[in-house]
Amino acid sequence: MDKSIKIFIASDHGGFELKGKIIKHLSDSGYNVEDMGCSSIDSVDYPLYGKKVSEKVADGEGVGILICGTGIGMSITANRYSDVRAALCMNGYMAKMSKMHNNANVLVLGARVLGEGLAFDIVDTWLSTEFEGGRHQKRLDMLE
Ligand code: RB5
Repeated sequence: MDKSIKIFIASDHGGFELKGKIIKHLSDSGYNVEDMGCSSIDSVDYPLYGKKVSEKVADGEGVGILICGTGIGMSITANRYSDVRAALCMNGYMAKMSKMHNNANVLVLGARVLGEGLAFDIVDTWLSTEFEGGRHQKRLDMLE
């Protein structure tokens, strides 16, 4: 992905530590990342943070990464927005397919089910894979 495209990232308390590691990983790689919270491991409500990123992505301002404990709450939140295609990915294959076939514009991670190395691999794979278009675009059009 073009490194000038903004990456909005947010988590709840369950994803806070992994969020910090991913922000450093992406910043070190030259990506333009904006942290939209939360700001500590104190308990917060994931919809508040999922909505912040989803609104930016739905407005066409960039792509998103959302992290909670399992990734499930953030996925449910983000996919309520009609212009958001959020993909909860557990491995590099899912990350690759979520971009090639689904053109996911939000990547969702579960911090309590992924190690740091696997999470970095998922993020890197998602960012470096391109949408295939063609029959997959037709299917995305059918969602509208
Ligand atoms: C918080 O305990 C947890 O419920 C949240 O991080 C997430 O896993 C929800 O889906």
